[in-house]
Amino acid sequence: MIRQIQHLQACFEAEFERNCTTGIPRAAHRRTLDTSVWWCGTETLKITTKVLERQSGMVHCALMAGRRVAVITGGTRGIGKAVSLAAARDSQRVYAIYARNWQAADAFSEETRKEGLDVRCIRADLTKDEDFSRCVNTVRSEAGRIDVIVHSAVSGVHRPVTDLTERHIAWTFNINFLAIHRLLREFVPLMPAGGRIIGLTSAGANRSVPRYAAVGASKGALESLFRYYAAELAPRGISVNLVCPGLVLTDTIAALPQREALEQAALARTPSGRLTTPEDVAQVILFLCSEAASQIVGQTIVVDGGFGLS
Ligand SMILES: NC(=O)c1ccc[n+]([C@@H]2O[C@H](COP(=O)([O-])OP(=O)(O)OC[C@H]3O[C@@H](n4cnc5c(N)ncnc54)[C@H](OP(=O)(O)O)[C@@H]3O)[C@@H](O)[C@H]2O)c1
Repeated sequence: MIRQIQHLQACFEAEFERNCTTGIPRAAHRRTLDTSVWWCGTETLKITTKVLERQSGMVHCALMAGRRVAVITGGTRGIGKAVSLAAARDSQRVYAIYARNWQAADAFSEETRKEGLDVRCIRADLTKDEDFSRCVNTVRSEAGRIDVIVHSAVSGVHRPVTDLTERHIAWTFNINFLAIHRLLREFVPLMPAGGRIIGLTSAGANRSVPRYAAVGASKGALESLFRYYAAELAPRGISVNLVCPGLVLTDTIAALPQREALEQAALARTPSGRLTTPEDVAQVILFLCSEAASQIVGQTIVVDGGFGLS
């Protein structure tokens, strides 16, 4: 047992050396340490705050050593933000990736800092090679391991299908479809058994929605790609699934000129009597990331209050 503890301490030290610049607020250290349970061989060691406080500087590494690491694309706004928050409150270390909206990212960083959550926002347009490499290298060198990947980032050109140029299609597919395939090629090798990969899709993948052809097609392609990932990664203990929300009034949707009409139409057809919230979606994703969901493989879970029933 003593050798196991020494080994654990050596791991903490190495981890701390790698992560000492991250600077997690003390409140977060304390809260997590109070409830930390560390596995060491077949023994479970409960390391109390007291013990760790004597080992100054090793508090943060202790946190890092036991946390699941989650990468959330589009993780600073809308549904992705709710997923980042839910994962961080679940004691996961979160890398929230965004492209341009630094104001939203700064506000989100501040919110998580106040709450003492372990969230790092990375600005990276995942369709640009340089940004993509920087983002991948940052996560790889800091975390070294990834347990959860959620692809919430989205963009697209909203026009009738006959007005779509190749450029419009490429823009839309590059982030909605290609970026996650590229990320998975980099990150799946860092994912241990128990890993989870979740994509966000929408009803427009399988139905015709006005001016949604580019995004709808990219989501259809994503669903197909994820079925292949699901089949190929399940034998390694990694589950791949999709979540399909109903209309969620995120900033992007709220800014659409037809927002009110969309909202009324969705509400009229939703048996639960309310629209889906980002938190509704985040909770389902959190469940899919849990051990209880390990036998759910290659599915699309609809979270729409029954909208799709009629
Ligand atoms: N909202 C709905 O009603 C609804 C319904 C069904 C499915 N979904 C799906 O749920 C997901 C989230 O939707 P949402 O409404 O929450 O989205 P949103 O609020 O528009 O947020 C999109 C996120 O994607 C990021 N992003 C866009 N292009 C990027 C790029 N090139 N590189 C990196 N990040 C990029 C944005 O970064 P910036 O913050 O920097 O702009 C933003 O954080 C999407 O996949 C969407 O298709 C949404």
